[in-house]
Amino acid sequence: MAARALYRLPGLGRTAVPLTCSHCPRFSSRAAGHGRGAQSYPVISGEILSLYRHVYEANTRNSEGCRQRYEELLEEVKRGGGESAILRHTQRNKKLLVRDRLKLLLDDEPFLELSPFAGLGLPYGDVPSAGCLTGVGKICGIWCMFIANDATVKGGTAYPISVKKQLRAQEIAMKNRLPTVYLVDSGGAFLPLQAELFPDKEHGGRTFYNEAIMSALKIPQVAVVCGSCTAGGAYIPTMAEETIIVDRIGTIFLAGPPLVKAATGEDVSAEDLGGAKLHSRVSGCVDHFAPTEAEAYSRARLIISTLNYEPSPIETREYEEPLYDAHELQGLAPRDYSCTLDIKLIVGRLVDGSRFLEVKADYGMSLVTGFASVEGHLVGIVANNGELTHDASLKGSHFVQICNQRGVPLLFLLNTTSRESPPPSVLKAEEQTNRLKAQASMMAAVACASVPKITLVVGGCHGGESFAMCGRSFEPNFLFLWPNARVSLVDPNSVTANVRMDEERPEDERGQTARLEKLKEESSAFYSSARLWDDGVILPQDTRKVIGTCLRIISQQKYQTPAFQPGPLLRM
Ligand code: COA
Repeated sequence: MAARALYRLPGLGRTAVPLTCSHCPRFSSRAAGHGRGAQSYPVISGEILSLYRHVYEANTRNSEGCRQRYEELLEEVKRGGGESAILRHTQRNKKLLVRDRLKLLLDDEPFLELSPFAGLGLPYGDVPSAGCLTGVGKICGIWCMFIANDATVKGGTAYPISVKKQLRAQEIAMKNRLPTVYLVDSGGAFLPLQAELFPDKEHGGRTFYNEAIMSALKIPQVAVVCGSCTAGGAYIPTMAEETIIVDRIGTIFLAGPPLVKAATGEDVSAEDLGGAKLHSRVSGCVDHFAPTEAEAYSRARLIISTLNYEPSPIETREYEEPLYDAHELQGLAPRDYSCTLDIKLIVGRLVDGSRFLEVKADYGMSLVTGFASVEGHLVGIVANNGELTHDASLKGSHFVQICNQRGVPLLFLLNTTSRESPPPSVLKAEEQTNRLKAQASMMAAVACASVPKITLVVGGCHGGESFAMCGRSFEPNFLFLWPNARVSLVDPNSVTANVRMDEERPEDERGQTARLEKLKEESSAFYSSARLWDDGVILPQDTRKVIGTCLRIISQQKYQTPAFQPGPLLRM
């Protein structure tokens, strides 16, 4: 069967405990009622002119190759640490595989997996899914973040990329105020890389710091000890608000039996040193004893039902589907940025009824701004349609502030072009300086907007313009890439052969080709996602579903209460 997209069904009817929980609070049937007006916004024409048919077709061919690569990688990461590690995990250690655990933990509904390709092709090797699955799914109707070790990948030990993935998951949980569940099954730090894991601010200790801060922010955290929690791993359940341990499977200790033996000469079993009975009856490090894994996840669900959270309302709002087939987005995903099709063709295939209320339609036209709804949720769209010129940047600043004043989440469709060549004249230099100032204003408006932001890289993510378009360093709540996307300071296609990296040693033709190839490889979406510069690669045809899910997740928090604005909106 073909691999599914990032947005997955965790599997139906194959679980040991019922997934509909009779103890959970009843769901409210009232929807929030956003986006009613969107039903009368003007419809965007989605017609692809015959003049551009060849571009559309070339993009489609490129997207097809990207889709195949995407599905191959998805299959690869699903195999976790490989066959023998899976056998060791399930047969010798008698544990459930991480995806089966999630089936028991989460409601029987699709969940949003984050960064499944993180950890592939790193200098220290392949670490499938960075050794831990993260994502957002519902438990008893409440959107929760999950962070679940995959012990088939080197005993669930933490590589630098695993730490980065966990920290990003915690950051998303904080930004979106999501209760968080940790499924801990980890041998602690991956020792050969300890220097890249321990000392720095964004290294392992930050996970525990975040746990305390999240708790102080009233973001509840629950841990299930479903394997080893050794060394650093021991702090995760101990710092969680409520913890469950599975009998004969879960252990918590700072140093395991081999270290005790080495230090004291004493032979002690893992169970006696830090097993379920010890921690639930003697140490008090955990709060619930579960005889089996299935009972542990069932108990975790019950704990979530005590959070006194309002579950997301059952969606009753009606919305129109776009007028155009989502698969056509593959033909609009730019392969070559020298000929990018009108961004409104993409907007029209993402938003409800292909309806879009454009703002400042005739000003700064290389940026498109306006309101639309995605699966019934009102959003302000900011979309590149060429260079971020002076006028386009001012338009972006103004629109971002409007959305911020009204509490409307922002959706950025990022497709920035590479820096242009040095100015040939004083006039041109003045124009560029003015543009710089306007871009700085837009960056400030984006950075300070307190509404949720989602960024989707549909093409190029190059240079300073990508910051104003809410690139990674501008902290969007979620950031996804299409597989055709390119992420690099400069667009590899625009780097001319005579731009040398090393002035001292001129390159021959082979050297130049190799350098460009390297630049191309390092700017690919999969390269970016392997390093966690984003929250995952998504296929163009799945985008609407993913964005709709993000907006539902976001709407669980009460961001609608307008944030304090220290001043009025300033027209620039
Ligand atoms: N660093 C690097 N590699 C580690 C590791 C660590 N801390 N812990 C385990 N591994 C590796 C093993 O070498 C093995 O690699 P291999 O598959 O290439 O042979 C793989 O992870 C699985 O370990 P294994 O011991 O075979 O599996 P297990 O299921 O029997 O036990 C653990 C898993 C995690 C319970 C056990 O390996 C363990 O206790 N590890 C030491 C934990 C520790 O002391 N951590 C201190 C960190 S500061």
